[in-house]
Amino acid sequence: MERFELAMKGIMSAGAALRRSPMGEDQVSRKTDHQDLVTCRDREIEQMLRREILGSFPMDRVVGEEYPEDPGSCGGVAWYIDPIDGTTNFVNQRRNYAVSIGCWKDERPLFGLVLDVEREALYWAKAGGGAWKNGSAIHVSGRSQVSDLLLTTPCIQHTFLEEHPRRGDMLRLARAVRAVRSLGSVALELCQLSSGEADMFVTVRSAPWDHNAARVILQEAGGCICTMEGEELPLNSKTTVAAFNSPEMRRLFMQGGY
Ligand code: IPD
Ligand code: CA
Ligand code: CA
Repeated sequence: MERFELAMKGIMSAGAALRRSPMGEDQVSRKTDHQDLVTCRDREIEQMLRREILGSFPMDRVVGEEYPEDPGSCGGVAWYIDPIDGTTNFVNQRRNYAVSIGCWKDERPLFGLVLDVEREALYWAKAGGGAWKNGSAIHVSGRSQVSDLLLTTPCIQHTFLEEHPRRGDMLRLARAVRAVRSLGSVALELCQLSSGEADMFVTVRSAPWDHNAARVILQEAGGCICTMEGEELPLNSKTTVAAFNSPEMRRLFMQGGY
Protein backbone atom coordinates (compact mmCIF):
# COMPACT_ATOMS: atom_id res chain seq x y z
CA MET A 1 0.00 0.00 0.00
CA GLU A 2 1.24 3.51 -0.84
CA ARG A 3 1.80 5.99 1.99
CA PHE A 4 -1.23 8.10 1.07
CA GLU A 5 -3.60 5.10 1.02
CA LEU A 6 -2.18 3.93 4.34
CA ALA A 7 -2.72 7.39 5.85
CA MET A 8 -6.28 7.53 4.52
CA LYS A 9 -7.10 4.10 5.94
CA GLY A 10 -5.44 4.96 9.28
CA ILE A 11 -7.22 8.29 9.72
CA MET A 12 -10.62 6.77 8.92
CA SER A 13 -10.14 3.95 11.45
CA ALA A 14 -8.90 6.47 14.04
CA GLY A 15 -12.04 8.56 13.47
CA ALA A 16 -14.34 5.55 13.77
CA ALA A 17 -12.64 4.45 17.00
CA LEU A 18 -12.88 7.95 18.51
CA ARG A 19 -16.53 8.41 17.53
CA ARG A 20 -17.63 5.31 19.38
CA SER A 21 -15.24 5.51 22.33
CA PRO A 22 -16.70 6.08 25.79
CA MET A 23 -14.85 8.82 27.70
CA GLY A 24 -15.04 9.47 31.41
CA GLU A 25 -13.13 12.08 33.45
CA ASP A 26 -11.15 9.16 34.93
CA GLN A 27 -9.52 8.66 31.53
CA VAL A 28 -8.23 12.23 31.41
CA SER A 29 -4.87 13.27 32.85
CA ARG A 30 -2.97 16.54 33.08
CA LYS A 31 0.37 16.79 31.31
CA THR A 32 1.90 20.06 32.55
CA ASP A 33 -1.17 21.71 34.14
CA HIS A 34 -4.99 21.76 34.13
CA GLN A 35 -5.06 23.34 30.64
CA ASP A 36 -2.84 20.67 29.09
CA LEU A 37 -4.73 17.38 28.88
CA VAL A 38 -4.16 13.92 27.51
CA THR A 39 -6.56 10.98 27.48
CA CYS A 40 -5.99 7.27 27.00
CA ARG A 41 -7.58 7.69 23.55
CA ASP A 42 -4.80 10.11 22.44
CA ARG A 43 -2.25 7.44 23.37
CA GLU A 44 -4.13 4.50 21.85
CA ILE A 45 -4.72 6.27 18.54
CA GLU A 46 -1.11 7.46 18.26
CA GLN A 47 0.12 3.92 19.00
CA MET A 48 -2.21 2.48 16.36
CA LEU A 49 -1.05 4.98 13.71
CA ARG A 50 2.62 4.45 14.59
CA ARG A 51 2.21 0.66 14.33
CA GLU A 52 0.56 0.92 10.92
CA ILE A 53 3.08 3.38 9.50
CA LEU A 54 6.19 1.66 10.82
CA GLY A 55 4.81 -1.80 9.95
CA SER A 56 4.84 -0.80 6.28
CA PHE A 57 7.61 1.82 6.22
CA PRO A 58 10.09 0.93 8.99
CA MET A 59 12.67 3.51 7.88
CA ASP A 60 10.27 6.47 8.09
CA ARG A 61 10.40 8.97 10.99
CA VAL A 62 7.21 9.36 13.01
CA VAL A 63 6.89 12.62 14.96
CA GLY A 64 3.84 12.50 17.20
CA GLU A 65 2.63 14.42 20.21
CA GLU A 66 2.44 11.67 22.80
CA TYR A 67 5.52 9.48 22.20
CA PRO A 68 9.17 10.22 21.46
CA GLU A 69 10.53 9.60 18.03
CA ASP A 70 12.14 6.18 17.54
CA PRO A 71 15.90 6.89 17.59
CA GLY A 72 16.43 4.14 14.96
CA SER A 73 14.43 5.91 12.25
CA CYS A 74 16.63 7.60 9.71
CA GLY A 75 14.83 7.73 6.35
CA GLY A 76 14.07 10.92 4.44
CA VAL A 77 10.31 10.59 4.96
CA ALA A 78 8.79 12.10 8.11
CA TRP A 79 5.22 11.71 9.35
CA TYR A 80 3.70 14.29 11.71
CA ILE A 81 0.75 12.89 13.63
CA ASP A 82 -1.59 14.37 16.18
CA PRO A 83 -3.95 11.62 17.36
CA ILE A 84 -6.39 14.21 18.74
CA ASP A 85 -5.94 17.89 17.99
CA GLY A 86 -8.33 19.64 20.32
CA THR A 87 -8.17 17.23 23.26
CA THR A 88 -9.94 19.76 25.51
CA ASN A 89 -12.85 19.85 23.03
CA PHE A 90 -12.83 16.05 22.88
CA VAL A 91 -13.16 15.91 26.67
CA ASN A 92 -15.60 18.79 27.25
CA GLN A 93 -17.61 18.95 24.02
CA ARG A 94 -17.18 15.64 22.22
CA ARG A 95 -16.84 17.61 18.99
CA ASN A 96 -14.50 20.14 17.35
CA TYR A 97 -11.50 17.82 17.46
CA ALA A 98 -9.43 16.28 14.68
CA VAL A 99 -6.95 13.58 13.75
CA SER A 100 -4.07 15.07 11.80
CA ILE A 101 -1.52 13.25 9.60
CA GLY A 102 1.09 15.04 7.51
CA CYS A 103 3.81 13.38 5.45
CA TRP A 104 6.95 15.12 4.17
CA LYS A 105 9.97 13.89 2.23
CA ASP A 106 13.33 15.68 2.46
CA GLU A 107 11.51 18.67 3.98
CA ARG A 108 9.06 18.89 1.07
CA PRO A 109 5.36 18.13 1.50
CA LEU A 110 3.92 14.89 0.15
CA PHE A 111 0.40 15.13 1.59
CA GLY A 112 -1.70 16.21 4.57
CA LEU A 113 -4.95 14.85 5.99
CA VAL A 114 -7.10 16.36 8.74
CA LEU A 115 -10.28 14.59 9.84
CA ASP A 116 -12.95 16.61 11.64
CA VAL A 117 -14.06 13.50 13.48
CA GLU A 118 -17.61 14.29 14.55
CA ARG A 119 -18.58 16.13 11.34
CA GLU A 120 -17.01 13.31 9.30
CA ALA A 121 -15.29 15.93 7.16
CA LEU A 122 -11.94 14.88 5.71
CA TYR A 123 -9.71 17.72 4.53
CA TRP A 124 -6.82 16.52 2.42
CA ALA A 125 -4.24 17.53 -0.13
CA LYS A 126 -1.39 15.98 -2.08
CA ALA A 127 1.40 18.32 -3.12
CA GLY A 128 0.46 19.84 -6.46
CA GLY A 129 -3.02 18.27 -6.48
CA GLY A 130 -5.23 20.98 -4.96
CA ALA A 131 -7.07 20.86 -1.64
CA TRP A 132 -10.20 18.86 -0.90
CA LYS A 133 -12.94 18.49 1.68
CA ASN A 134 -14.36 15.01 1.17
CA GLY A 135 -15.06 15.00 -2.60
CA SER A 136 -15.16 18.78 -3.21
CA ALA A 137 -12.32 21.14 -4.05
CA ILE A 138 -11.75 23.89 -1.48
CA HIS A 139 -10.12 27.29 -1.76
CA VAL A 140 -9.27 30.17 0.55
CA SER A 141 -11.60 33.19 0.58
CA GLY A 142 -11.04 36.22 -1.63
CA ARG A 143 -11.70 38.76 1.15
CA SER A 144 -9.23 41.63 1.05
CA GLN A 145 -10.66 44.36 3.31
CA VAL A 146 -9.39 43.96 6.87
CA SER A 147 -12.76 45.04 8.23
CA ASP A 148 -14.40 42.07 6.39
CA LEU A 149 -12.06 39.41 7.78
CA LEU A 150 -12.70 36.65 10.27
CA LEU A 151 -9.57 36.01 12.32
CA THR A 152 -9.23 32.63 13.98
CA THR A 153 -6.89 31.76 16.85
CA PRO A 154 -6.71 28.43 18.68
CA CYS A 155 -5.69 29.89 22.02
CA ILE A 156 -6.96 33.35 22.97
CA GLN A 157 -5.10 33.29 26.25
CA HIS A 158 -1.56 32.97 24.95
CA THR A 159 -1.93 35.07 21.82
CA PHE A 160 -4.07 37.93 23.14
CA LEU A 161 -4.01 37.97 26.95
CA GLU A 162 -0.40 37.22 27.83
CA GLU A 163 2.67 39.34 27.17
CA HIS A 164 4.74 38.70 24.02
CA PRO A 165 6.53 41.00 21.57
CA ARG A 166 3.55 41.36 19.16
CA ARG A 167 0.72 41.48 21.68
CA GLY A 168 -0.01 45.17 21.02
CA ASP A 169 -0.31 44.42 17.27
CA MET A 170 -2.62 41.50 18.00
CA LEU A 171 -4.95 43.70 20.04
CA ARG A 172 -5.06 46.28 17.23
CA LEU A 173 -5.73 43.52 14.72
CA ALA A 174 -8.57 42.12 16.83
CA ARG A 175 -10.24 45.55 16.77
CA ALA A 176 -9.66 46.00 13.03
CA VAL A 177 -11.16 42.70 11.79
CA ARG A 178 -14.86 41.87 11.60
CA ALA A 179 -14.56 39.28 14.40
CA VAL A 180 -12.22 36.91 16.19
CA ARG A 181 -13.12 33.22 16.58
CA SER A 182 -11.47 30.43 18.54
CA LEU A 183 -12.34 26.79 17.90
CA GLY A 184 -9.48 25.29 19.93
CA SER A 185 -7.77 23.16 17.28
CA VAL A 186 -4.84 24.39 15.20
CA ALA A 187 -5.50 21.79 12.49
CA LEU A 188 -9.23 22.51 12.15
CA GLU A 189 -8.74 26.27 12.21
CA LEU A 190 -6.16 26.06 9.41
CA CYS A 191 -8.70 23.94 7.50
CA GLN A 192 -11.36 26.63 8.08
CA LEU A 193 -8.94 29.10 6.52
CA SER A 194 -8.35 26.65 3.65
CA SER A 195 -12.06 26.43 2.89
CA GLY A 196 -12.85 30.14 3.20
CA GLU A 197 -14.70 29.90 6.52
CA ALA A 198 -12.00 32.07 8.11
CA ASP A 199 -9.60 34.51 6.48
CA MET A 200 -6.60 34.77 8.79
CA PHE A 201 -5.06 32.61 11.54
CA VAL A 202 -2.61 33.45 14.29
CA THR A 203 -1.10 31.69 17.30
CA VAL A 204 2.01 32.15 19.41
CA ARG A 205 2.20 28.41 20.12
CA SER A 206 2.08 25.55 17.71
CA ALA A 207 3.96 22.27 17.38
CA PRO A 208 4.97 20.31 14.26
CA TRP A 209 2.18 17.74 14.81
CA ASP A 210 -0.39 20.56 15.15
CA HIS A 211 0.24 22.25 11.80
CA ASN A 212 2.39 20.11 9.45
CA ALA A 213 -0.62 18.34 7.89
CA ALA A 214 -2.95 21.34 7.65
CA ARG A 215 -0.26 23.61 6.19
CA VAL A 216 -0.09 21.31 3.14
CA ILE A 217 -3.85 21.65 2.73
CA LEU A 218 -3.71 25.42 3.19
CA GLN A 219 -0.98 25.93 0.64
CA GLU A 220 -2.83 23.75 -1.89
CA ALA A 221 -5.97 25.81 -1.20
CA GLY A 222 -4.13 29.00 -2.20
CA GLY A 223 -3.25 30.30 1.27
CA CYS A 224 0.11 31.19 2.75
CA ILE A 225 1.71 30.46 6.11
CA CYS A 226 4.78 31.67 8.01
CA THR A 227 5.90 32.52 11.54
CA MET A 228 4.48 35.66 13.17
CA GLU A 229 7.86 37.22 12.41
CA GLY A 230 7.40 36.52 8.68
CA GLU A 231 9.93 33.71 8.45
CA GLU A 232 9.46 30.34 6.81
CA LEU A 233 7.64 27.99 9.17
CA PRO A 234 10.13 25.47 10.60
CA LEU A 235 9.22 21.82 10.06
CA ASN A 236 10.60 20.31 13.24
CA SER A 237 10.29 22.83 16.06
CA LYS A 238 7.57 24.62 18.01
CA THR A 239 6.81 28.03 16.57
CA THR A 240 4.47 30.98 16.26
CA VAL A 241 2.21 30.71 13.20
CA ALA A 242 0.48 33.29 11.04
CA ALA A 243 -1.58 32.18 8.03
CA PHE A 244 -3.46 34.16 5.41
CA ASN A 245 -5.85 33.91 2.50
CA SER A 246 -3.40 35.86 0.29
CA PRO A 247 0.19 37.17 0.10
CA GLU A 248 -1.22 40.74 0.23
CA MET A 249 -2.81 40.02 3.59
CA ARG A 250 0.47 38.56 4.81
CA ARG A 251 2.29 41.75 3.76
CA LEU A 252 -0.27 43.89 5.57
CA PHE A 253 0.08 41.80 8.73
CA MET A 254 3.87 42.04 8.69
CA GLN A 255 3.77 45.81 8.24
CA GLY A 256 1.11 46.20 10.95
CA GLY A 257 -0.95 48.07 8.34
CA TYR A 258 -4.41 47.56 9.81
C1 IPD B 1 -3.72 22.06 21.04
C2 IPD B 1 -4.85 22.67 20.29
C3 IPD B 1 -5.07 24.06 20.83
C4 IPD B 1 -3.82 24.93 20.68
C5 IPD B 1 -2.65 24.27 21.35
C6 IPD B 1 -2.47 22.85 20.84
P1 IPD B 1 -3.92 19.45 21.51
O1 IPD B 1 -3.49 20.74 20.63
O2 IPD B 1 -4.60 22.72 18.90
O3 IPD B 1 -6.12 24.69 20.16
O4 IPD B 1 -4.03 26.19 21.22
O5 IPD B 1 -1.49 25.04 21.10
O6 IPD B 1 -1.42 22.25 21.54
O7 IPD B 1 -3.14 19.51 22.78
O8 IPD B 1 -5.37 19.50 21.71
O9 IPD B 1 -3.46 18.36 20.61
CA1 CA C 1 -2.45 19.43 18.83
CA1 CA D 1 -2.98 16.23 20.54
